[in-house]
Order: sequence, then structure tokens, then C-alpha cells
Amino acid sequence: MDHMVDVFDTEAMVPGFTAPVLPSGPFDPAAVEAADKVSRYWTSDTPGPFKIGSETHKHELCRMFRETFNPYRPSVLEWPKLAPEELARITALPIWDIAVETEGKARLRMAAYAKTVADKDMRLALALNAWEENRHKEVLSKMVTHYGIPLVKEPPYIYPTDAEWAYMVTGYSECIDSFFAFGLFKVAQRSGLFPQELIDTFEPVMQEECRHILLFANWVAWHRKNMPWWRRIGFEFKVFRVYCFLGWERIGLARSLDGDGNERTQDNNFTVNGAQSMTADDLSLPELLQLCLDEDEHRFSGYDKRLLRPTTAPTLARFALKFMKKKKKA
Ligand SMILES: [Fe+2]
Ligand SMILES: [Fe+2]
Repeated sequence: MDHMVDVFDTEAMVPGFTAPVLPSGPFDPAAVEAADKVSRYWTSDTPGPFKIGSETHKHELCRMFRETFNPYRPSVLEWPKLAPEELARITALPIWDIAVETEGKARLRMAAYAKTVADKDMRLALALNAWEENRHKEVLSKMVTHYGIPLVKEPPYIYPTDAEWAYMVTGYSECIDSFFAFGLFKVAQRSGLFPQELIDTFEPVMQEECRHILLFANWVAWHRKNMPWWRRIGFEFKVFRVYCFLGWERIGLARSLDGDGNERTQDNNFTVNGAQSMTADDLSLPELLQLCLDEDEHRFSGYDKRLLRPTTAPTLARFALKFMKKKKKA
């Protein structure tokens, strides 16, 4: 399969970056549990506030990212044996093509941008993020190969001409997608329709996405404070254009290719319909949004409060919830 012939080398792309060395011994549950804790809880011992955009803010942000690294190895993940109906349910989820492609794009865009960053601390943090996206792709590849899930051919990954734009598209996109993914993951976990071992395997990947968007939200804030005012105008316009592009892209996801390269209509309302395919219970949109908000809060709760959180998706969800409650009352 094409997705297995897949070499990506962050180390070769980003000056100064050394790929993490992963433990080589046999699977050790105690070490895995300890690493999981390390990846979820981090508070700096540096006293005082972190002035956004300051050297301290950047230094602590990058330190958080380094010190919460989880050294799990995709090659030792155990894939549970699935009952036929479980396998059918997992294969039918309309997410695998998009997930593989998203990780493929993310690793390249992050590494391409990291390469251009003059600040060493930030460059290495972004490079590690790219390396982790590649590991996500490895996890997915191992899973789809193991279960024989058919995938469409991956598109060619094109090196971005504007690396900052590409990183921003990926970063903002992760902020929105992760917010919903956190809730959907909880739906899947609660439903009992998927084996617990499979949920456990993807748990560190989910938490890693939380770290990624924590890094991204703070990178945006640090970056905008460290540019001259005339660049700032262009940057804010770029942020606006990214949001327009993401809106368009999400509508565009409705159209995709099937295994034979034919265009097919994929679910463009995965948040709601996706939730329905992950549970046997009837789940309303307000219930789902509330779950996304709770999970978002829970996943970020272990990190230093002085670091900024992504706010757009939670704010929109809160607004939508208020609107839906008012409508229900009327
Ligand atoms: Fe990822
Ligand atoms: Fe990510």
C-alpha cells in the first residue's frame, strides 16, 4: 500500500533539530502510565505572570512542549482483535482518508515553517510538532494496514510556497477539528461500541493534539507581538483569509474520491452524523456541543494557566448553545 512507503525526515528538514530517541525495551505498562501523566500535567516553576510575546512566554511555552513529550512507539502498539460488527463499524467511519491526508499535510507544513523560524527555541518546538504529526501518520498507517481498511490514494504532498500561511491553515484547522474530535472521542468511548484497547491506543494521540493547539495558540500570540506594526496589518489580514479558506475547505470536504479514484459524496456534516455513527444512543447537537466544551476544558486543565488556550471554537460553541437554548424556550 502506498501509505506504507512513506519516508519523512524532520531532522533533515529543520536545522538544529534532533529526533527524539524512543525507548527500545519491551512494552512496560508502568512507564507508559508515567509518560501519560507527564504529557497531561505541566506547570512551570518560574514565578510571576507570562507577559504574552515576551522572552519568558516563549521560553516557557517551548519548555512545556518539550517536557510534555510522550515517547510512545507506534511499532509496539497492539491492535485488538475486533468482532466482525466492530470491524465493519470502524471501517465505515468516513474519516480515515481525511485523517491520513491531514497528518501528511500537517507534518510537511509544520516542518517547512519551522525551517524558516530564526528563534531556535520556537524552531525546535515546531519541528517536534512536525515530528509528532509524522508519528500520528505512522499510527494511522499501522492501524489501517492491520485491519485492512481501504484508503484512497494519497495526494502528492506539495512543499508550501508560503510556509507561514500553510502553518497557519494547519494550526487553525487543528484548533477547530480537535475541539470536535475531543467530544466525538468521548462519545465513542462512552458508547461501548468500540473496544477499550482501541480507545486507549488513540488516547495519547488525542492529548497530543491538545498540546499542539496549545502551542499554536501561544505561537500566534507570541508571533504577532514580535512583528513591526506594518507587518502586523498583513498578518491580521492573513488570519482573516485563513478562516475564510477553512470555511470553504470544510464545505469542500463534502466532495472526495473513492478507492477507484471516482468522486463520491462524503459526509460534510461529520460532527453530527459522525457522532451518530459512534454511539447507539440518540445524541442531540446541544448535548454534543456541551460534551465538546467539557472535554476541551478537561484536556487543557492540566497545563499552566498562564499559557493561552485556543478560544475560537469554544466561544462559537457556547454562542450556538445559548442560541439553541433560547430557541427551545421560545
Ligand atoms: Fe496529528
Ligand atoms: Fe497536531
